[in-house]
Amino acid sequence: MILKRMLPFSKELLERACQKGDIVIDATMGNGHDTLYLADLVGTDGQVFAFDVQEEALQQTSKRLGDQYPYVHLIHDGHEKLADHLPKDAYGQIAGAVFNLGYLPGGDKAVTTQAHTTIEAIKQLLEWLKPGGLIVLVIYHGHPEGKREKEVLLDYCRSLPHEEVQVLSYQYMNIQNDPPFVVAIEKKLK
Ligand SMILES: C[S@@+](CC[C@H](N)C(=O)[O-])C[C@H]1O[C@@H](n2cnc3c(N)ncnc32)[C@H](O)[C@@H]1O
Repeated sequence: MILKRMLPFSKELLERACQKGDIVIDATMGNGHDTLYLADLVGTDGQVFAFDVQEEALQQTSKRLGDQYPYVHLIHDGHEKLADHLPKDAYGQIAGAVFNLGYLPGGDKAVTTQAHTTIEAIKQLLEWLKPGGLIVLVIYHGHPEGKREKEVLLDYCRSLPHEEVQVLSYQYMNIQNDPPFVVAIEKKLK
């Protein structure tokens, strides 16, 4: 297929934004698939900061990574507290960040990402990103909180100043049952 599905497309975007040696963020660690992917993308000279509110996510991710990734930092806290956990010298240096919104697959469906905390994290990230840096959101809205989060998040994204950021929405229009879609926010070069 020429048109990519959401996860391959989100990876392609991250690959365009992030190079070996970069500092990147996995805002929703979950079972650690994206954390591992980002770790391989930036390599041993890079750094990955991964966040989750659930201890279970840290355990799963730690198991997935094994002991080969000392440059990956697993942080047991909400992404809305991102700025409290990043080293000061990372300010203005973050190349990319990914949010896979929703709940932990196979976990507690009541613990799901929420619009106000997701938006707070994006606001902080827009300050910490380097010019040309990218935030990728994969939005799952097939569950009730996901629908609320999507609406509020899209309103916020539409309100972002185009002089400072470009915002892209990528979605299939003829698939039933609320398939996930991607929103990408690129901080413009000065
Ligand atoms: C769809 S899952 C992420 C899947 C993950 N990227 C993977 O590769 O398996 C969403 C995750 O976001 C987490 N989460 C919910 N609220 C959060 C918050 N405020 N900060 C960070 N993580 C949060 C959930 O605990 C859940 O593990």
